Amino acid sequence: MTVLKGAALSLLIATFSGTALASDDPIDSRQKIMLSVGGAAGAAVAMIRGDVPFNPAIANAVFSTLNAAAHNYGDYFPEGSEDDDSKASPKIWEDMAGFQSELAKFQESAGAAVAAKPQDLEAFKAAFGQIGGSCKSCHEGYRIEK
Ligand code: HEC
Repeated sequence: MTVLKGAALSLLIATFSGTALASDDPIDSRQKIMLSVGGAAGAAVAMIRGDVPFNPAIANAVFSTLNAAAHNYGDYFPEGSEDDDSKASPKIWEDMAGFQSELAKFQESAGAAVAAKPQDLEAFKAAFGQIGGSCKSCHEGYRIEK
């Protein structure tokens, strides 16, 4: 178990530095941010499944990562940065207001999760579940499957 916990923590550390290394290229930056989101969600799922024991410090790192991403992600979609090779849907630029409203939902649920400071797995699951709804709804509207 200690090994698994170490793995989850190093995953989080890797995702944090990934965000910090975001480059000048908006496509690269936004993809790195979403990867950090995926890494944090992976650590959350590992605790929920019981692969890693619940740990309030990991819970806090997961939610802080998600909250930071929710607040930064929207900065990397300037006009003209549409990208045919990625899964970012052209709808993001056609309906920026709708995309911003998905971001607002993500910010709200991630902010609430940080504030909740869950101290046990049940509270963690409840807070993470709220965020999961915002991942799904934005992906359905603004991410295309390749
Ligand atoms: C506001 C919209 C939005 C929200 C909220 C959002 N995503 Fe994403 N996500 C995207 C878009 C758009 C892409 C495709 C980006 C690209 O390819 O450039 C993406 C890509 C990803 C990827 C990269 C791999 C892939 O399949 O494209 C992962 C992993 C991911 N999201 C996980 C999550 C998780 C987990 C959450 C919730 C905790 C979440 N996302 C919330 C918009 C969102």
